[in-house]
Amino acid sequence: MKRLNPPPRLLMGPGPINCYPRVLSAMSTQLIGQYDPVMTGYMNEVMGLYRQVFKTDNKATLLIDGTSRAGIEAVLVSCIEPGDKVLVPVFGRFGHLLQEIAERAGAEVHTIEVPWGEVFSPEQVEDAIKRVRPKVLAMVQGDTSTTMLQPLEHLGEICRRYDVLFYSDATASIGGNPFETDLWQLDAVSVGLQKCLGGPSGSAPITLSERYVELVRQRHHVEAGIRSEHHKSGSASRIRSNYFDIPMILDYWGEERLNHHTEATSMLYCARECAINLIEEGQENCIARHTLHGNAMAQGAMGLNLQLFGDQQHKMTNVVGVYIPENVDGEQIRSQLLQDFNIEIGTSFGPLHGKIWRLGTMGYNARKDAVLHTLQSLETVLRRAGHKMSPGEGIDNALEVYQSA
Ligand SMILES: Cc1ncc(COP(=O)(O)O)c(C=O)c1O
Repeated sequence: MKRLNPPPRLLMGPGPINCYPRVLSAMSTQLIGQYDPVMTGYMNEVMGLYRQVFKTDNKATLLIDGTSRAGIEAVLVSCIEPGDKVLVPVFGRFGHLLQEIAERAGAEVHTIEVPWGEVFSPEQVEDAIKRVRPKVLAMVQGDTSTTMLQPLEHLGEICRRYDVLFYSDATASIGGNPFETDLWQLDAVSVGLQKCLGGPSGSAPITLSERYVELVRQRHHVEAGIRSEHHKSGSASRIRSNYFDIPMILDYWGEERLNHHTEATSMLYCARECAINLIEEGQENCIARHTLHGNAMAQGAMGLNLQLFGDQQHKMTNVVGVYIPENVDGEQIRSQLLQDFNIEIGTSFGPLHGKIWRLGTMGYNARKDAVLHTLQSLETVLRRAGHKMSPGEGIDNALEVYQSA
């Protein structure tokens, strides 16, 4: 077998993106034992670091091993008992994912929908809460499938008024868009590393409010092989997943350090480095950087005579959706960019399939050279495919954004 030698791609799609070099080197750090005090010290450090990332005082802030959907699944399967009502406002592919996971957990799921490219008003969500009276509101913040950013700041207060648990999947938005767990009164949040945090996929940081933890503690259960006399089972039904049983995972991350899975040490090193990277840069600065490069990409795309997709008032900073011009073959353009220029841009799903491309500027790739290189290459490929534009206008537009910053 040949040695691993992937081509040096520039990943300018909706994620994953190229990792920060320091995150990559953290991943190759030597392993230590699960209960080594150095390791448990790192686990505690990671909890503290992600409290800062999530802007929360929640004690229960930790990592779920697995990609972002592992975090979603852990949060939902642990709080949903069969027959519980869950409300999912769907504005893209990942709202449907929350619906799917809640249904599999046995929930009676109610959805409301807006067309892809739009978001919900607080009134639309409140009306649905009044009608459905759900136990949980589950909502995506930034849906990469549409590039839209759902405002969450008014929803926590509404949820408290109707005694609803408020959960958000902020996988694609955290780090590059404002997020306030405590201020916005969220009860559970899950994310991933592979977007604005600039890491690989494979670890899902989550944070849980006291209210959420108290609720799932009623379903507490300790496996027979490690149970002691002082462990009492909770009164509510047992959580249907062992791997994603949050009370058991909390026992592992908590003072008792009760054995559950073997923590994915290399991913913990990565998650730790991603958080340190964000905190050292400063969250406000990191959001400003994503805003700047996202704007440069959007203005540059317009200079290439491409039309932007979706409600621009509610766009994520880190992904730009553009309509594929009618006279070109979208997949052919993407494959030429990949083959000739080593640049990956995103296709799209569902109702947008074949209609838009998604250009990401996030994490390590929220950089001027990455934006300009992508625009220049896209211009060349589009021009050769017969797309009409004024040569140079894409780059000029982007440079203007940088000059006026
Ligand atoms: C908003 C959102 N949620 C969930 C996911 C699923 O993430 P993963 O593929 O890491 O499980 C993604 C991935 O793109 C996402 O953008």
